[in-house]
Amino acid sequence: MNNFWLKIKKPILALAPMAGITDSAFREICRKHGADVVYSEMASVSALFYKPQKTLELVKFNKVERPYVVQLFGKDPAHFAKATKIISDPSLALPLVKRRGQIPDGIDINFGCPAKKVFGHGSGCVLMMQKKLAREIISAVCENTKLPVSIKIRAGVGDPKAGLLKNSQSPALGISALDFIKNTADLPYSAIMIHGRTYEGGFSGPVDFKIVEKIKKMFPQKIVLANGGINSAEEAVKILQDYPLLDGLGIARGAWGRPWIFEEIKTPLPSSPILGRGDGGEGEGCKKFDFPHIKKIMLLHAKLIHENKGARGLFEIRKHMSWYVKGFPRASELRRKLVMANSLKEIKEILS
Ligand SMILES: Cc1cc2nc3c(=O)[nH]c(=O)nc-3n(C[C@H](O)[C@H](O)[C@H](O)COP(=O)(O)O)c2cc1C
Repeated sequence: MNNFWLKIKKPILALAPMAGITDSAFREICRKHGADVVYSEMASVSALFYKPQKTLELVKFNKVERPYVVQLFGKDPAHFAKATKIISDPSLALPLVKRRGQIPDGIDINFGCPAKKVFGHGSGCVLMMQKKLAREIISAVCENTKLPVSIKIRAGVGDPKAGLLKNSQSPALGISALDFIKNTADLPYSAIMIHGRTYEGGFSGPVDFKIVEKIKKMFPQKIVLANGGINSAEEAVKILQDYPLLDGLGIARGAWGRPWIFEEIKTPLPSSPILGRGDGGEGEGCKKFDFPHIKKIMLLHAKLIHENKGARGLFEIRKHMSWYVKGFPRASELRRKLVMANSLKEIKEILS
C-alpha cells in the first residue's frame, strides 16, 4: 500500500473536511499555501451506491491537490463497500464521469458530523455509539481499497446529562473518543482526526486536546491529528508545543479567508516581514501576508472556482471573498462590491 500518511513530514497540517467549502478550488489554494493534505466535502455513500454521477463530480480533483482524501458518510456497510470500490478503482468510476485526477490518495470515514440531517439519519457522529456497526463500516472500507483509510471522530458523544439524544434512534449510551478507538484500533486504518469537542459541544467552546494526545500515546501506530478551534498560526504553534506527541493538526474554519494559515504555521520566524491583519497581533512571530499578496490569492481562487463550476462558482466564491477582505482598509465597501460581482472580469477590476 502506498500510504502517503507515513511520508508526510510532521507536524502534518491538514485542511479538514467542510461541506460547501472544501471544493477543488479551495483545496488547491490551501495546498499551494502549505496544507500537507486536503479533505473533500463529505460525500454520501448511498448516493454513490444508487446514483454515483453527481457525487463523483463533487469529489473530483486536480493532481496538484494531492495528497487528497475523499470523505464518505452514511450508515450502511454495503453502501460503504461499494462507494469505496467506486472511489478507489478508476475502471469503475471513469465510465460514470470524466474525472480529472483519477483515484484519490486516501479515504476517510465521517464519524463526527452532528448536523441534524446527517445525525438524525443515523450517520456521522451518532455512529460513534454503535460499536458493532462502526466496526463493520470501517472493515467494509478497509477491505475494499488499497488506499490508506482514515476516520474523523469527536471527543465523545452521548453525554446523558445533555439529553440531546432522546429523539435519535440510537441507544442513549455515551462513548468517548478513547473508547471508540479502543473498540476499533485493531482494524487497519491509518489515521484519525479528532475534533476535540463532544457532539454536545457543537462547534464552539473548549477543545480537549489532552484526550487527543492521550489517544496518540495509547495507539502510537495510528497517525493522530487534533482538530477544533485553531484559528491562527500562533494558536497552532502553541498547541503543537503544548501537546508534542500529536502527529499534526486539522484546520477547518481557521482557513476561511486565510488559506495561507498552513504556510504561516510552517514559518514561525520572528524575523519574517510582519504585515499582520490583527488576528495574532503584529509582531507576534508567524509569517503574515500583505494585502496585495492576498488580492492575488483571491483572484486565483476566483479563477479556479470559475473554471471548475462556471457561474455557480462565482456565486459560491462570494462567501470566500467576504472572509478574505476582513481587516482590509475599507473592507465593508470592498465586500459589498465583491459580493455583487457577476463575472471574473468584474472581480479582477475590483481587486486591481
Ligand atoms: C461549514 C462546515 C462544514 C463542515 N463539513 C464537514 C464535513 O463535511 N465532514 C466532517 O467530517 N466535518 C465537517 N465539518 C467539521 C470540521 O471539519 C471541523 O471538525 C470543525 O469545524 C471544527 O474545526 P474548526 O474549529 O477548525 O472549524 C464542517 C464544519 C463546518 C463549519
